[in-house]
Amino acid sequence: MKEELQKVILAAREEIMQCRSLHDLMLLKSRYTGKKSVLNGFMKKLGHLDPKERPTFGKTVNLAKEALVELLTQQENTIKEAQYNHALASQRIDLTMPGRRQDRGSLHPVTLARREIEDIFVSLGFDVAEGRDIEDEFHNFDALNTPKDHPARDLSDTFYVGGDVLLRTQTSTVQIRTMENYAPPIRIIAPGRCYRNDNDASHSPAFHQVEALVVDKGVTFADLKDMLNVFVKKMFGDEIRSRIRPHFFPFTEPSAEIDMLCVNCRGKGCNICKGSGWLEMGGAGMVDPHVFEMLGIDPEIYTGYAFGLGIDRIAMLKYNIPDMRLLFENDIRFLKQF
Ligand code: PHE
Repeated sequence: MKEELQKVILAAREEIMQCRSLHDLMLLKSRYTGKKSVLNGFMKKLGHLDPKERPTFGKTVNLAKEALVELLTQQENTIKEAQYNHALASQRIDLTMPGRRQDRGSLHPVTLARREIEDIFVSLGFDVAEGRDIEDEFHNFDALNTPKDHPARDLSDTFYVGGDVLLRTQTSTVQIRTMENYAPPIRIIAPGRCYRNDNDASHSPAFHQVEALVVDKGVTFADLKDMLNVFVKKMFGDEIRSRIRPHFFPFTEPSAEIDMLCVNCRGKGCNICKGSGWLEMGGAGMVDPHVFEMLGIDPEIYTGYAFGLGIDRIAMLKYNIPDMRLLFENDIRFLKQF
């Protein structure tokens, strides 16, 4: 029996020393030292021994059990320490490592141009007004003196959402919304997105305009011309000036188209201005007295001018962008350059 015990103990020691997980160690603990353990089995067999040998053998078994318990505790500590060291090593932070790079976004060229335009007009005493992209026929057409049978209302130009609700085709809607809500003197610009069913190399179905509206006593056509000149000079440099050509808009009278000297050739003629020396910028005019009347502003007391410029065009000229489609394709290689 003694030899048997010796064997069991040797095997137990071996197994315990080799154990690497706390779970397995618990199993060993119950196998060798628990209630139904092998060692307790020896105790039960004490009866088979010579009565004289019983006390010594019993003592031996107890001592062996104590030694195993001790060994189990030691091994438990060893495993815990190894696990702790492993965790330390694997979670180690190397403070000398370079940081993870954050990609920085950049502002879209249209946003950059719009902000610069806003800064210029704010410095000239204008407020920045906002309208809405989804409009009704009243603000986009009726109040702008555009009769029901006007071709501009045609489905081929205007995106209708349903009924008389549409995507605004021009920022001139904000002229109306401003005059509905504020009494003169008025001095606002309104940058924003517009929509027309147009899509080719120089037209996008969504594009950007900036509207200006000035209403006060004694505002004249000369003020309009002056403001356009001041703006193009501030935006593109002192050598650039603007000119106007007669045109028609339903809500201004007289009306004009605005050109500015070609920023590339300064009037000599090049491929950007198609040889004319001038670039088209938008439309302008004196607010039609009928528009004032519809909004309850007395045209005998007040006069006003308005103009609308294409922001996309301005951005293209400012940042040398050759094709309008680049502005709307969201190609990251293009956008990163700004
Ligand atoms: N809204 C006109 C257009 O989109 C431009 C314009 C604005 C003309 C203000 C006159 C006055 O073509």
